[in-house]
Amino acid sequence: MPDFTTLPPLSLYIHLPWCVKKCPYCDFNSHTYKSGLPEDEYVDALIADLEVQLPDIWGRSIVSVFIGGGTPSLFSAASISKIINTLRSHLNLAPHIEITMEANPGTVEQQKFNDFFAAGINRLSIGIQSFSDEKLKALGRIHTAGEAHNAVAVARKAGFENINLDLMFGLPGQSIAEGLDDLKQAIELSPQHISWYQLTIEPNTVFYSQPPTVPEDDDVWELQQQGQKLLADAGYQQYEVSAYAKAGHQCQHNLNYWEFGDYLALGAGAHGKISRSDSGEVKRYWQLRQPKAYMQAEAAEKTSDSEVLETEQIVFEFMLNALRLKQGFSIASFIQNTGLSAALIAGTCEQAVSDGLLEKNEAGFAATERGYLFLNDLINRFS
Ligand SMILES: C[S@@+](CC[C@H](N)C(=O)[O-])C[C@H]1O[C@@H](n2cnc3c(N)ncnc32)[C@H](O)[C@@H]1O
Ligand code: SF4
Repeated sequence: MPDFTTLPPLSLYIHLPWCVKKCPYCDFNSHTYKSGLPEDEYVDALIADLEVQLPDIWGRSIVSVFIGGGTPSLFSAASISKIINTLRSHLNLAPHIEITMEANPGTVEQQKFNDFFAAGINRLSIGIQSFSDEKLKALGRIHTAGEAHNAVAVARKAGFENINLDLMFGLPGQSIAEGLDDLKQAIELSPQHISWYQLTIEPNTVFYSQPPTVPEDDDVWELQQQGQKLLADAGYQQYEVSAYAKAGHQCQHNLNYWEFGDYLALGAGAHGKISRSDSGEVKRYWQLRQPKAYMQAEAAEKTSDSEVLETEQIVFEFMLNALRLKQGFSIASFIQNTGLSAALIAGTCEQAVSDGLLEKNEAGFAATERGYLFLNDLINRFS
């Protein structure tokens, strides 16, 4: 049973579940909106959801906020402002807190972005995916390469100085040169952060039932090697499997997930994890997935499912996340974020060190290059 003397850092995730059009590869909880977003009703539901969860996090400070989707940039700046003002009045937000919002280049207007910035959003994550019109079309995106470039210009003009660009690779029919060209165009725009994801074909998507022809594994591997070099040469340090940042610009919110921090979840289909020092429990919970059901449920009934993690699950989930990080984990963060004794993992860590999969550093352990290559095998040692 965990015993928390100091609780893990606490983040906040808010899910806004609508998009103009569902992309054929996407398995996120996103829904095409038919006519008119029920913005007011949804924002009221988020606020009710927050108020009912407050006792679970009483007295704790929030270290980061992430408004994800779906396409949060579909919401009006007035709604986003109302959400952020409510957070300010109800929660203890850490000084200089990172507040990220996801934006789709097909939903960009200058005035709206100015207003998002004025509302308190200070980090923008733009879903570029590719700078090729042909690939964007194959991905079913609503934007063009020109709009992708424009989105970054508009964001900068609005005042955003902390920008992430999401790109995907291994796209239908994509050559190595085309994949590298996408990266080069992203680098030229000089964002603080680039997320470079390999396209995965997820169950329950159109791409799963009608699979496109994606590049051979060897080509994807080669693209990944050359792309990582491009990014490193341009000053983007890889700190997680898909995350690359200029110095000092790692995503604080995602880092907290990967370090097995806590996160409060608001919104349809959002998922949270909260540790408690009184009971020693680590609880995961999921909010109702369907936006309509989420909005209509009473404040205390918006959670569809929850589970208290067993010690073995906590250890495994900590490793599942922390070993994705290039810097690995410190023993101090293991103790703080799991509430468990380091003696529980000592033997497995030492064995993985002697097998060349982990290396010991001053503070703790990190995957070696070999360990990073065989990450699943390494993580499974802790199951
Ligand atoms: C939750 S999406 C939100 C971003 C925003 N809705 C958009 O698409 O513009 C976050 C990112 O995950 C990535 N992503 C989504 N589905 C993926 C898949 N099947 N394989 C790889 N990356 C994916 C995309 O790069 C996407 O921008
Ligand atoms: S815009 Fe983003 S969240 Fe919406 S369907 Fe496409 S990938 Fe998914």
